[in-house]
Amino acid sequence: MPTDHPRIRTTEEYQYAYRRSVENPEQFWADVAEPFTWRRKWDTVLTADLVEGHNKWFEGAKLNITENCLDRHLATRGNKLALIWEPNDPKTRQIRYTYRELHQEVCRFANVLHNNGVEKGDRVCLYMPMIPQLAIAVLACARIGAVHSVIFAGFSANAIADRVNDAQATVVITADGLERGAKQIPVKRVVDEALEHCPSVRGVIVVEHLGWPVHMKDGRDVWYHDEVQEVEKTCPAEEMDAEDMLFILYTSGSTGKPKGVVHTTAGYMVWADYTFRNVFQVEENDVYWCSADIGWVTGHTYLLYGPLLSGATTLMFEGVPTYPSPGRYWEVIDKHGVNVFYTSPTAIRSLMAHDINHVLAYSLDSLRVLGSVGEPINEEAWHWYHTHIGKGRCPIVDTWWQTETGGIMISALANITPSVPARAGLPLPGVQPVLLNQEGQEIEGNDVEGYLAIKYPWPGIIRTTYGDHERAKQTYFGVYPGYYFTGDGARREPDGLYRIQGRVDDVINVSGHRFGTAEIENAINQNNTVVESAVVGYPHDVKGQGIYAYVICRDGACDDDISRKHVEASIIETIVAQIGRIAKPDKIQFVEGLPKTRSGKIMRRILRKVAEGDTSNLGDTTTLLDPEIVEKIVEGRK
Ligand code: PRX
Repeated sequence: MPTDHPRIRTTEEYQYAYRRSVENPEQFWADVAEPFTWRRKWDTVLTADLVEGHNKWFEGAKLNITENCLDRHLATRGNKLALIWEPNDPKTRQIRYTYRELHQEVCRFANVLHNNGVEKGDRVCLYMPMIPQLAIAVLACARIGAVHSVIFAGFSANAIADRVNDAQATVVITADGLERGAKQIPVKRVVDEALEHCPSVRGVIVVEHLGWPVHMKDGRDVWYHDEVQEVEKTCPAEEMDAEDMLFILYTSGSTGKPKGVVHTTAGYMVWADYTFRNVFQVEENDVYWCSADIGWVTGHTYLLYGPLLSGATTLMFEGVPTYPSPGRYWEVIDKHGVNVFYTSPTAIRSLMAHDINHVLAYSLDSLRVLGSVGEPINEEAWHWYHTHIGKGRCPIVDTWWQTETGGIMISALANITPSVPARAGLPLPGVQPVLLNQEGQEIEGNDVEGYLAIKYPWPGIIRTTYGDHERAKQTYFGVYPGYYFTGDGARREPDGLYRIQGRVDDVINVSGHRFGTAEIENAINQNNTVVESAVVGYPHDVKGQGIYAYVICRDGACDDDISRKHVEASIIETIVAQIGRIAKPDKIQFVEGLPKTRSGKIMRRILRKVAEGDTSNLGDTTTLLDPEIVEKIVEGRK
C-alpha cells in the first residue's frame, strides 16, 4: 500500500517545516523521502559542495522513479485517471489513461526501446508534438534507465543536431507531424535533416500521429505501431542509483551554446513531489492542468513527474491558447472540470488582449488554485488573472524557479502563505535564498535588493552540465563560491516576500523561453553581409521581453531601404535555421558601430536603454571609444 505523503496545511506548519529544513536539513529530507518506494534506502542524505558544485542526495539508495510514478499507485489508484489528453482540434477525440493503463503503455514503450537496443545510461532525444506518446516515451526511458533529453519541437534542425551531438544520443523518438494551433510542423522531416549531422544516432522511432507521409530510412527508422505489436505489457523497472542521471535538458546561458542541465534520480524525484504537493495543494479528486510543453522544464516537473508522483490526474494539452478561439483555455477548464491551473504570464497577457466575452462564455467554477511561471508577472496581468479567471476566490501561486533548480524554489503555497501581486513570495522549505552585493556579501534585512543566490543545496539542484562540469562550476558555483548563483536579481520587500526582478546576466526571457544574447548574435553573424551584432532584451507588452538586434553590415550592403529589407529577411532566415522561429528578433536596427569601451567591450547597458526607448539618461559615455556613435544609434532607433 502506498503511504500518502503528508503535506503542509497551515502557516504554522509551513513555519515549522521551514525552520526544521534549515536547522536539521538531513533529518528533514530523510523524513520527506521516507514514504517513497525504495529498493534500498540511502546511506547518506546529503553530500554538500557549493564550491565545486558536486552535490549529492540520498547516495547509496536504489530506486526507479517510474515505480514511484506508476506502480506505487496501482493498488489504490489503479482505476483513477492519471493522464487526460486534450487535442489541438477540439472536434477530435480526447484520450484518457488510468494509472493502470498508463503503467501498461509505459511498459510497452519501454520494451520497444529495449528491442531497439536502448540500454541503461544511453541517451535518447525526443522531438515530439504534445501527444500522450511523448509523456509515455519519457517515462519509458526512465523505466529502463535511459537518459531522456526532450528537445522542444520548435527548435530548428541545427539546434536539434547540436543537442543530439552534445548528448551523444543513440536513439531519437519523433512523430510524423505536429499541429500547434493552425501551424503545422513536419517534425520527422526536421529530424531527418538534423540527423545528417549526428553520427551517434543508430535508430529513430516514429509515432504515427497525423497520418502524414514520411520518409523512413532503411535500417534506421521504425514505426512505433509496428514495434509495439509484439511486446509484453509488463517491463521490470531498472534499478537505479540515487545519483544516476534521469534527464538532460538543454537551456541557454549567457555564453556559448546551450548547456545540458543534468538532473539525477532520487533528489529530483523527492523535490518534484514535495514542491508539487505543497505549492498546488491538489486534492485526491482534482484535475490539475499545467499548460507548459514537455519540451521545457515546467512540463517535466509539473506536467509529468510531480503530478504522477503525487498520484494526481494531470491534463496534457496539444494546442495553443488562441486556437480555434481565444476562449480555448477556458473551454478546456470547463470541459474537464480543471481545479488547479498553471500557466505563463505570456499566455495570460495574450488572452487579456481579447474580448472579455471569450472568458465570460465559461463558468470556470471548478477552479480553486491558479499558478504562474517562467517570467515575472506584471500587476495588470496578475489582477486580470485573479479577477476574471480566478473570480477573486483563487490564490495565484507565482512560482519562481529555473531549469537548474529542478522545481519551485520561491512561491506562495496555495491558501497557506501570502499571495501578493508581482511577488513570488517566501522560499519553500529547504531553500535558503540570500541577496548578495557586487562583492558577494550577503545583504541583511528587508526592503533591500541584490543578486539572488542560494546558500544551501536542495534535493533538485543541478548536478552538472552534461560532459562539461567546469562549465557548471563556473556558471553557478564559481561566481560567488559557496553559493548557487541564480543569474536573477531580486528584492526582499518590507514584508520579507521576494520579488524577482529579472536576469542580471546576458540571458533574455522571451515568452518564458530563455535565450542567450550571444547565441542569437552567433546566428546573426553567420550571415555573410553582417560584420558584427549585439542583441539585447527590451520590455514587450505580451512576451515580457522582446529581442532587439543591432547589426553592422559590410560596407555598402545596407545603404538603402531595399537592401536593408533584404538583409533583414536573410538575418531572420539564419536565426530560424540556426535556433528556431521562437528566437526571431522583434526589431533589427542597422548601425554603423556599437558603443564599445576602449578595451573593446560592448556597453550593453546603453543598448538596452536605447531599445527600451529610455534615451534621456544614457549615463556616462565618456569612456567609450567613439561617444558619437551613441547619438547615431539613438537617432536610428526602431
Ligand atoms: O529569470 C527567471 C525567470 O525564468 C528564469 C528561468 O528560466 P527557465 O530555466 O527557462 O525556467 C523557466 C521555468 C521555471 C529565471 O532565472 N523566471 C522563472 N519563473 C519566474 C521568473 N521570473 C520571475 N518570476 C517567476 N515566477
